[in-house]
Amino acid sequence: MLSGKFAVITGAGAGIGAATARIFAREHAAGIAVVDIREEQAEKVAEELRGMGTQAIAVSCNVADAESVRAAAARVTEAFGRIDILVNNAGITRDVMFHKMTDAQWHAVIDVNLGGMYNWCRAVIGGMRDRGYGRIVNLSSGSVRGIPGQTNYAATKAAMIGFTNSLAKESARKGITVNCVAPGATDTEMYAQVPDHVLQAMLESNPMHRLGRPEEIGEVIAFLASERASYVNGQWFLVNGGK
Ligand SMILES: NC(=O)c1ccc[n+]([C@@H]2O[C@H](COP(=O)([O-])OP(=O)(O)OC[C@H]3O[C@@H](n4cnc5c(N)ncnc54)[C@H](O)[C@@H]3O)[C@@H](O)[C@H]2O)c1
Repeated sequence: MLSGKFAVITGAGAGIGAATARIFAREHAAGIAVVDIREEQAEKVAEELRGMGTQAIAVSCNVADAESVRAAAARVTEAFGRIDILVNNAGITRDVMFHKMTDAQWHAVIDVNLGGMYNWCRAVIGGMRDRGYGRIVNLSSGSVRGIPGQTNYAATKAAMIGFTNSLAKESARKGITVNCVAPGATDTEMYAQVPDHVLQAMLESNPMHRLGRPEEIGEVIAFLASERASYVNGQWFLVNGGK
């Protein structure tokens, strides 16, 4: 249960973030900020959460932009009073073989995936330390084991693990836990961009022969964000059907 807790979920306008937000609402979170660069998507999800009886606000924000994150964090704090849970879920791919990768494709992925986590952690960590409570869950990926065409993406997702481990060790005494969830191939808009032959190969090599569902990732995020995971810190959870 997440009763009494105020949460920020980035990239919650779709996919894993939206599924996580629905689970947070089901678990009675006191307030959920649906943060997304796509305002309309965020508003749709926030409305759905309000329909479930949860206080929810849509917050338009580009996680890669420090100023946009500062403004978004201020807006959430004004609405809820504090942020207890941060889920750094917003992420993008710019898949291309490394020898063809442009500087723009490299930097876009670094700025959103890694910069977004940095910007949001910076925005919330002071308050969490002051209050002696916090839950941070970062979305890494099974791609850290290496996937052709994803050098930029895999680099960010591996870096998130090192960041998580260090921040977890720094923050534990302040009542803050920091963990990573690393999904395998999951059925979202992001995965819809994967070419068909790659998808078929993925399905064949997966022991369950199917993609993950966004809710199956959200359940693990919700566990790590809850009191039930109070002694789980600095860990990395692959959620991939056993691949
Ligand atoms: N789907 C998969 O197979 C898979 C596998 C491993 C890891 N992941 C990770 O899980 C997370 C969620 O993935 P998903 O599949 O739900 O993605 P998705 O593309 O379905 O949704 C991502 C959401 O993030 C938002 N977003 C993108 N850039 C943003 C920005 N700069 N600022 C704010 N919001 C932004 C998008 O508008 C979108 O609503 C990502 O971090 C992704 O890397 C996904």
